[in-house]
Amino acid sequence: MIPYGRQTIEDDDVAAVVEALRSDWLTQGPKVAEFERALASYCGVKHAVAYSNGTTALQGAYFAANLQAGDEIVTTPITFAATATAAVWQGAKVVFADVGPDGNLDPKAAEAAITSKTKVLAPVDFAGKPADLAAFRALAKKKGLLVVSDACHSLGAAQGGRKVGSLADMSVFSFHPVKGITTAEGGAVLTDDAGLAARLSEFRTHGIRRGEDWLYGVESQGINARLTDLQSALGITQLRKLDRFVARRRAIAARYHEKFRAWGDVEVPEGDVDASAWHLYVLRLKGALGARRAEAFRALRAAGIGVQVHYIPVYWHPFYERMGYMKGLCPKAEDFYSRIVSLPIYPTLTDAQQDEVVATVRRVLDGLKAPA
Ligand SMILES: Cc1ncc(COP(=O)(O)O)c(C=O)c1O
Repeated sequence: MIPYGRQTIEDDDVAAVVEALRSDWLTQGPKVAEFERALASYCGVKHAVAYSNGTTALQGAYFAANLQAGDEIVTTPITFAATATAAVWQGAKVVFADVGPDGNLDPKAAEAAITSKTKVLAPVDFAGKPADLAAFRALAKKKGLLVVSDACHSLGAAQGGRKVGSLADMSVFSFHPVKGITTAEGGAVLTDDAGLAARLSEFRTHGIRRGEDWLYGVESQGINARLTDLQSALGITQLRKLDRFVARRRAIAARYHEKFRAWGDVEVPEGDVDASAWHLYVLRLKGALGARRAEAFRALRAAGIGVQVHYIPVYWHPFYERMGYMKGLCPKAEDFYSRIVSLPIYPTLTDAQQDEVVATVRRVLDGLKAPA
């Protein structure tokens, strides 16, 4: 099976982890701070706070934003549920707004969803293409809100000459194996604001603020969401390769574009190839074929192509349905979801494997069109 995504681990990554294993520190040592500095410097921001995964990083960001019961957050339904559920953990209400043709939260729809209770806008850089963060920053400024950018897909991308990570009040990353770089599990929040950075550190380590000598105070309802030194050592070597990984992903995306644009029955992802970090390559089936997405998915899996669907609209999940969200809430997101298939894209995917993916997709789609 050719998976839709996978990690790239090289000899220097292995050596770095082994070295960390043999050091005095398995966790809470110097590698964590070194990784944080490297991340902040790569993205051009002042502070990076490493977390145990992207989900706890989102929780930390919402905590730092002082999101609490009675507050609302506006986000997109086309994301992994953690973007929304981390806000539920803070007691906030999640308001879903509709997406644009690229699957990213539409700033106009988000604006229409703002109420007097809204505190945070949480756009997601779907598939690696940054949301329109200039528009979200302007909107947040106008309404007195904070932008928490879920950038779990887009490390390495840029917008308006600024790297992702520097485009919002807080930007959240995940280092899960299928993401741009990996620490196995891992995450981080980046910010230019020293006050937010202090709250992010506090939440990550039990709500503790340190005093003199042995003294410390538990100031808030924090958790243990620390990244280890082993993971940070891996993160440091991975980050050095990020630009190479992104370049390879872009080359794969460009090649998919070239092949699929010659077909009449599919739509390629919107936007310039260089605008995205290409965490995912999401193909859309056009017209009547869209209604046969499930058959296409099963046939592709049966043929050894590890396709996936990103994402089921978050509010369709039972947890959200039980809270009262109903189908039909975001019609564009639902239409988008109904037609999409994520195809394999990762740095070590070879041209030959990619050709096999393309040929198999063609064969499967032709099979669906052939008269029975
Ligand atoms: C958009 C998005 N947000 C949040 C997460 C959560 O990250 P993690 O799996 O590291 O907890 C993920 C990844 O799974 C994601 O894709």
